[in-house]
Amino acid sequence: MGRQWLIWGMVLLWFVSVSAELGRFEQPINKVDGSLSFLVVGDWGRRGAFNQSQVAFQMGKVGEKLDIGFVVSTGDNFYDNGLTSELDTAFQDSFTNVYTANSLQKQWYSVLGNHDYRGDAEAQLSPLLRQIDTRWLCLRSFIVNAELAEIIFVDTTPFVETYFLDPEDHTYDWRGVSPRKPYITNLLKDVECTLRESTAKWKIVVGHHAIRSVGHHGDTQELVTHLLPILKANNVDFYINGHDHCLEHMSDTDR
Ligand SMILES: *[C@@H]1O[C@H](CO)[C@@H](O)[C@H](O)[C@H]1NC(C)=O
Repeated sequence: MGRQWLIWGMVLLWFVSVSAELGRFEQPINKVDGSLSFLVVGDWGRRGAFNQSQVAFQMGKVGEKLDIGFVVSTGDNFYDNGLTSELDTAFQDSFTNVYTANSLQKQWYSVLGNHDYRGDAEAQLSPLLRQIDTRWLCLRSFIVNAELAEIIFVDTTPFVETYFLDPEDHTYDWRGVSPRKPYITNLLKDVECTLRESTAKWKIVVGHHAIRSVGHHGDTQELVTHLLPILKANNVDFYINGHDHCLEHMSDTDR
């Protein structure tokens, strides 16, 4: 009898841990007309170099004009190898002291890119960074409820098998990810569940890697196979990504 309860207890615990929902953040609409504007940037942290500061300046101007509510970062937040720790000054040099325009003093929602996983990936998720700069919020996967839109942020780096099988001379910080298979399975389940239950007018998904791309890296086959069918089945309006360092706008010819 005692043993049976123990087993049920373990099953329940397991169920609770695998069905843990994605964190949800509320982003009230800031405009009186009820519309929603936000900026998206990816692949940026260069301590202002490689024209990062110039792009930041233009973002400031556009952000002002559109009266944006927040900023989305699609990852590769800090080059070349993420942050070394929570105390890495690249955080200030590449973020706080670069995006200084008034209109960019809003909440930033960020995911991790493959370059971020080459450093201390957990440092970027740390609440300490949110204290250093209250705009910062980076998590692996989460939901932003922006009233008109529900935005689901998906940690795409663990999907890419070559980072695990053939990392070349890079070391990836897979703490909190390994083992890869159950991590991906749970994540897909959470994404599917969130999308299925969403009643938002617009359903938007954000990730670092492209699903489809005619750019340098091309398609991410793992996302075409595993993520795309879920987005299609749940009428996601669009998917936004970085990684390929180019501007592409693709439409689905199926619909
Ligand atoms: C910065 O932008 C200018 C103008 O587009 C370009 O000529 C230059 O190559 C860029 N610099 C870097 C380091 O990318």
